[in-house]
Amino acid sequence: ARPLLMDCDTGIDDALALLYLCLTPGTDLRAVTTVAGNTGAERSALNTLQVLETVGRTDIPVAAGAETALTGAVHDEVSTVHGEGGLGGVALPPPTAAPDPRSAVELIVETARAAGGTLDILATAPLTNLALALRAEPRLPELVHHVTVMGGAVHHPGNISPVAEANIGHDPEAAAAVLAADWDLTLVPLDVTMRENLTEEQRQRLLASDSPAGRLAGEILDCYFTFHETTCLPFRGCACHDPLAAAIAVGEVVPRLAPRLPVTVDTADGAARGALVADTRGIHRGYPELPGAGATVVLETDGTFGELLVERLTRSGQE
Ligand code: BDR
Ligand code: CA
Repeated sequence: ARPLLMDCDTGIDDALALLYLCLTPGTDLRAVTTVAGNTGAERSALNTLQVLETVGRTDIPVAAGAETALTGAVHDEVSTVHGEGGLGGVALPPPTAAPDPRSAVELIVETARAAGGTLDILATAPLTNLALALRAEPRLPELVHHVTVMGGAVHHPGNISPVAEANIGHDPEAAAAVLAADWDLTLVPLDVTMRENLTEEQRQRLLASDSPAGRLAGEILDCYFTFHETTCLPFRGCACHDPLAAAIAVGEVVPRLAPRLPVTVDTADGAARGALVADTRGIHRGYPELPGAGATVVLETDGTFGELLVERLTRSGQE
């Protein structure tokens, strides 16, 4: 398998993605970097270390990165979505491993160089670290094999504004830079992540499992389910944003529909700030490739990922 670096803001669904990757045979998670988003970057790093320890992966370096967006803006407190501390208010023992002394940018650039063009990157958070890494190493696109980003809303409403999704909308300038860079990039927007769900019945199976990963997932999901049930889903459950992007990044979920579309981000001040602008005007002609900077935009998956995720997290304890 190609080496993988995950940049995240752990976060309940980031935690599910980390557990999924660690429990998916053949996945080579080399490093994790964290950024402010669901909670602060440093807190996300501690959360990540705790999650990795649940599956015995204290060997993976975890480096904290940007605490603000490129503009210096601090993200609003989003503890209502991900709970106190970012993991649903669940108290976990302090991690035995410490964060890596390098910065997130250093870890991204060094991991890419060491992998000699084979590194895949999965970003499930605001794109600040990746934008800063591009500034620090303009050759980064040549050093990276593929980038998968959970973010944006194409035909679906936004989740932090009527049109902006959190990972793009919390740092629009960073997202614009990352989307404009010359690398192969796949976007996994709300259009698909809101339709791959977990249900309360599945959460109960996670809680009842004899896998530490399954039980941790079941516990942290309680708060996430309450958020979804009271805001954006017609049932008690949740969307699978970050784990779906992880499964697409490692090739386990193959999208049904993923055209290559010109994409950009609205960075102007105003009602559409942070919106992903994807050119879907070819929709009735099977999305012929249009000129302009492009990303592969996932518009349809088969809706069965939640069950795959539950099976993966309940199957085994350590690795
Ligand atoms: C994205 O925002 C965060 O709250 C989630 O972790 C996910 O990465 C969904 O918009
Ligand atoms: Ca996230």
